[in-house]
Amino acid sequence: MFARRFRDLHPYVPGEQPTDREYIKLNANENPYPPAPAVREALDSFDIALFRRYPDPDAHALRRGIAAMLGNGITEEMIIAGNGSDEILSFVFYAFFDSDAPLLFPAHTYSFYPVYAGYYSIPFERIPLEKDFSINLDSYLERPSSGVIFANPNAPTGRYLSPAEIRRFLERYPADRVVVVDEAYIDFGGESVVSLIREFRNLVVIRTYSKSFCFAGARLGFAVADPELIQALFTTKNSFNHFPVDALTQKIGLAACENWPYYKAINSELAQTRDWFSGELRALGWEVVPSLANFVFVRKPGFTGDEVYRAIKAGGVLVRYFDHPGIEEFVRISIGTPDQMRTLLAIMEGITRI
Ligand SMILES: Cc1ncc(COP(=O)(O)O)c(C=O)c1O
Repeated sequence: MFARRFRDLHPYVPGEQPTDREYIKLNANENPYPPAPAVREALDSFDIALFRRYPDPDAHALRRGIAAMLGNGITEEMIIAGNGSDEILSFVFYAFFDSDAPLLFPAHTYSFYPVYAGYYSIPFERIPLEKDFSINLDSYLERPSSGVIFANPNAPTGRYLSPAEIRRFLERYPADRVVVVDEAYIDFGGESVVSLIREFRNLVVIRTYSKSFCFAGARLGFAVADPELIQALFTTKNSFNHFPVDALTQKIGLAACENWPYYKAINSELAQTRDWFSGELRALGWEVVPSLANFVFVRKPGFTGDEVYRAIKAGGVLVRYFDHPGIEEFVRISIGTPDQMRTLLAIMEGITRI
């Protein structure tokens, strides 16, 4: 009854969404703030009659708006939008990574990468992180590869590479193979490498509305790259689903990117909360990996990550624990409002007294 390929699927497991009680939810890197008021207005003025029609398959107006927001000479032809960046990643894996040499990505990174590699039968190799969890791009040059993908800042560690470091890598990496930088968390203090796309035709930057644009429930993500690569992603999309972004999401997505100063303000507040929370945790004896994302990766010496996760959950807060060798002592904590983080701090202070 089932296809052979189906038996080999190992699906991605998202952060839990339990319903047994009310939790402060800090386990999926969602933004604690509401979308911009202009998004509410766009929603309220949406013409319901448009639901009768299929949406613009290529999301022209939205892509023009995103291009204007990004600046750096980026044009509509250099952007494709999709149903969350997960879908965009799926198109990228399908279109650019082959089986003649492994795809390289960090040993600890977004756990959808190995899932898509498995889905499309792309061999892959996990490259160890440095002791401090940073990505050493030099080690990606030392082995054969059909492409490279990493998140910057990386997840679940939060560690960040500067555009100068990524440029140095791109200058030495073969220009006929694609390098994907997944910038899901770039808006919390990092600097995008979108500015390098005109120079490096093999660079693909992936962005999502889910985190910095408070849109996880609306499902919107996009890729930015040279028009030739974007055309390949359109061919892939149109071989799978012509209409991945519905009419309503196209409209509110445009309203959101036209109001990026609002998001800049809330995300810089969030970054301040992150830095304050990290300092408080360190003062309590926790190890906190330096993060430029909207989460921190922490451990308490003497405790397993699972114990910490359970103790925090018992206190009414959900965080994320990964049962992966090498990071099993850590939990990943999304940054919420200052009030939520104060509640969590009180719980974590209690853990030190067990
Ligand atoms: C590094 C990274 N990339 C991509 C995604 C996917 O985001 P979405 O599909 O919501 O756009 C996530 C989600 O957590 C992520 O952590």
